[in-house]
Amino acid sequence: MNILKYETVSLDENEKALLILDQTKLPAQVNILHLTEIHDIHNAIYTLQVRGAPAIGIAAAFGLYLEALKIDAQDSPSFLAKLRQAKDYLNSARPTAVNLSWALNRMYNSVNVSMSIPEIREILRLEALAIKSEDTETCRRIGEYGLTLIHDGDGILTHCNAGQLATSKYGTALAPIHLGRERGMNFHVYCDETRPLLQGARLSAFELMADGVDTTLICDNMAAQVMKEGRVRAVFVGCDRAASNGDCCNKIGTSGLAVIAKHYGIPFYVFCPVSTVDMNIKTGSEIVIEQRKPEEITEMWYSKRMAPDNVNVYNPAFDVTDHELITGIVTEYGIALPPFTESLKTITNANQAHCLR
Ligand code: MRU
Repeated sequence: MNILKYETVSLDENEKALLILDQTKLPAQVNILHLTEIHDIHNAIYTLQVRGAPAIGIAAAFGLYLEALKIDAQDSPSFLAKLRQAKDYLNSARPTAVNLSWALNRMYNSVNVSMSIPEIREILRLEALAIKSEDTETCRRIGEYGLTLIHDGDGILTHCNAGQLATSKYGTALAPIHLGRERGMNFHVYCDETRPLLQGARLSAFELMADGVDTTLICDNMAAQVMKEGRVRAVFVGCDRAASNGDCCNKIGTSGLAVIAKHYGIPFYVFCPVSTVDMNIKTGSEIVIEQRKPEEITEMWYSKRMAPDNVNVYNPAFDVTDHELITGIVTEYGIALPPFTESLKTITNANQAHCLR
């Protein structure tokens, strides 16, 4: 089955529903959820039925539009007040990936009180569709830049899933691999399993194999050995929020990989659309790290509990890789190199110039 033929997230305009490929069921089952209620959309984001920074932004944008179709109000100011509540509610589903608030703010800021309610609804529909289609183009461009960093046949190590399942198409860190495949290239990708939710095993390995990529699954604690054996030309990872100094927050375990890669002299690249760069924060220490349930570590995936009852569990879902460990940040406007404070400023300004055109 080719999972790449399915849309990660889309809008069914006839049914007025958000369609989500339920990632909690992969790889065993391909199940498309049809969601119409804001609470179900919030829950889908919280439970990772849809996940990955760009994908949750797109899902929330469609969710806000669908909610706008239901809001009952006499005039535009009271309509917008209710829209704002819906935006804040969706934004509360997950705290770390900035794309969620970025997409919701973009939606909300696209409308104003001078518009009629039908006009507001139509603008929100168009904006949500634009967020999705721009994401595809962004990922393709990120993939083009990423391809300049590797050669046919290279071994690449990746963590979590920053592929098509985390975006509208191609992915970010996996975009060069998929684009390379379109051009007849072959890479050998090592997928970290990615404890505790196994996005590497369940999603990246599945997605890459569907594209015919030579894929090898490893446990997270095997990465150092694989790097030491000389199997890895570069590490490619995604990003949930980058600070203006280049500190990058991504799935828990990413930062450890960067430390190991530095030890073995292996380039470590973060793939990050400009929408994931948060220029409002100076360093990664300002990023709120999502904490998740202990059961994800102690019970989930096991047929019986694998830890003592009442053991203390710490389960941060993300970590921050210090900018000193990052070789480059690959965006749709080019590859930012150290010092990131300067290069990210140039790249985000290029984005603003592009948006104004
Ligand atoms: O908890 P998840 O599965 O949503 O975490 C996803 C990641 O950490 C990805 O690497 C990140 O969102 C980049 S997606 C292009």
